[in-house]
Amino acid sequence: MTAPQLQTIPAVLSVIGDTPMIELSFSAEGVKLLAKCEFRNPTGSVKDRLAKHVLLHAHQNGLLHPDSIILECSSGNTGIAMAMVGRVLGYQVTILMSRSASEERRKLIRQLGAELILFDSEGRYQTGIEISNKMAQENPRYFLPRQFENPLNVEDHEFGTGLEILSQVDGPIAAFVSGFGTGGTLAGCGKAIKKKWPDALICAMQPSSTELMAGECPCCHVIEGVADGFVPKLLEDAPLDRRILVSGLDATRMTRRLHREFGLLVGTSSGANVAAALQVASELPAGANVVTLLCDRAERYFSTPLFDLPGGESQV
Ligand SMILES: Cc1ncc(COP(=O)(O)O)c(C=O)c1O
Repeated sequence: MTAPQLQTIPAVLSVIGDTPMIELSFSAEGVKLLAKCEFRNPTGSVKDRLAKHVLLHAHQNGLLHPDSIILECSSGNTGIAMAMVGRVLGYQVTILMSRSASEERRKLIRQLGAELILFDSEGRYQTGIEISNKMAQENPRYFLPRQFENPLNVEDHEFGTGLEILSQVDGPIAAFVSGFGTGGTLAGCGKAIKKKWPDALICAMQPSSTELMAGECPCCHVIEGVADGFVPKLLEDAPLDRRILVSGLDATRMTRRLHREFGLLVGTSSGANVAAALQVASELPAGANVVTLLCDRAERYFSTPLFDLPGGESQV
């Protein structure tokens, strides 16, 4: 397979980013939040940004060759995004995924034309990273985007997502709330916001430990996509002020509220982010700008407990 000499970037890549910001009004709580709609990216998650930035950089700087194979370990969203961007750039893509990741994610990755390799994580998120490192050592055709340690991940959110947020919010930002997987979103947006608004509280949403087993791989708990039990390298120098713990139950409840009261079909981590942001906003003066992210779409979770609702449809 030959990688194309790109005169222009593939059309789908031009609709990544520049996502809308909407106001969520919680009248019962007397609080308004600002939510950035990352589910509007073409594969339905914030991870399209990372895939575009890292793979275009590698493509344009000679790090990818016509016979390169992009190899990423991902519990889902990154794998789907890497599969889409890698394939439209003309490369082979192999995604390593824990066997416990949802069936929807596996299907989307295969549908985009990528190869999928499943592994048993046995509760360790590092397993897939170790396998991908070993594969890359043994075969130089593999190119590793290394989402967990690549500084381009933070850079893209600082100068992409972060600057978009600053241009979309009128007046000072009082708080920014986000979960973290690699930490790229939280570190990058946090840096951009702190530079302009030094008093802004940068808050990490984290699944509460009572619900989760520390060290599990990020796809194996209720709030899929966000990590627990470890601090990712990319967060080490991030400007973090607070940590807000959210239980799987509260995340699920808020996600269903977003579906039913707001018509926003988003995934569980979006509900967790909103639950954490509501908590922060309720402690701040009325009218303070509190910003959070709606990370991905609900369709990715059909086979998970999020959709286990009693009394589904009526029979005639
Ligand atoms: C589904 C999902 N994807 C991605 C992210 C952000 O990931 P990262 O820290 O890797 O930028 C989050 C964080 O809340 C998330 O919930």
